[in-house]
Amino acid sequence: MKFIFITLFPEQIAQGAGHSIIKRALDAGLLSMSCINPRDFTTDKHRTVDDTPFGGGAGMVLKPAPMVAAIRKAKEQLPDALVVAMSPGGKTFSQQLAEDFAVGGRDLILVCGHYEGFDARIFHWVDLKVSIGDYVLTGGELPALVIMDAVARFIPGVLGKFASAVEDSFSTGLLEYPQYTRPDVFEGLAVPEVLRNGNHALINRWRRKEALKATWLHRPELLGQLTKTDAKLLAEVQAEAAAEADKPEEK
Ligand SMILES: C[S@@+](CC[C@H](N)C(=O)[O-])C[C@H]1O[C@@H](n2cnc3c(N)ncnc32)[C@H](O)[C@@H]1O
Repeated sequence: MKFIFITLFPEQIAQGAGHSIIKRALDAGLLSMSCINPRDFTTDKHRTVDDTPFGGGAGMVLKPAPMVAAIRKAKEQLPDALVVAMSPGGKTFSQQLAEDFAVGGRDLILVCGHYEGFDARIFHWVDLKVSIGDYVLTGGELPALVIMDAVARFIPGVLGKFASAVEDSFSTGLLEYPQYTRPDVFEGLAVPEVLRNGNHALINRWRRKEALKATWLHRPELLGQLTKTDAKLLAEVQAEAAAEADKPEEK
């Protein structure tokens, strides 16, 4: 899968993609990425990419001409790619959208804003606006890197074991159960006995119950319609929590 970043700060993208799993995936040719800088499409001496907003107000707005020229250049290289603009007002990015992008198999052109954002006419050349959350960052480079990272995890071969992406939080519809590794006991904190007894049926049951518990405690809106088995496990979790709450406080 190919990614083109439209960015005024290509060094930030190179830095963000230059480590660990993503770097290895790029080196192995499982992904490819490049940057196009809208500043290269300016025609004035100062290579101006922004200007004051019509109607007044703080900050500078990205001019349409260099941005659209950069998108056109990217489209020449990847004619079938989906053009996605980073925008706090866009569709909220999610694990599902990451998987859809990966499974859909279309290359991505990720358009990064800066300053006060884009001249709205730029969106005529954009297929989708995406936000990575309800907060405002200084630029679209981090959101674009977040998107490439999350999508890449669904591309076969990028993770050592593909199963890890589909078992993660959100991919199962629930938050992930707690994970442990050696040592068995760390500073008096022991790994749950069930994980050490080698009984895979019991381990799976414990993990499912813990995933339901974490989701119920932290993201209850994700729980939706439960199967009979999950409803029973969640009822156990809730009974245990109620019993814990009823315990007299230790003096
Ligand atoms: C300072 S922001 C502009 C914010 C804009 N004035 C607004 O209120 O929506 C500059 C750029 O950073 C990127 N950006 C900031 N926060 C983002 C978020 N949560 N998700 C995606 N992109 C974001 C966008 O590309 C945006 O054009």
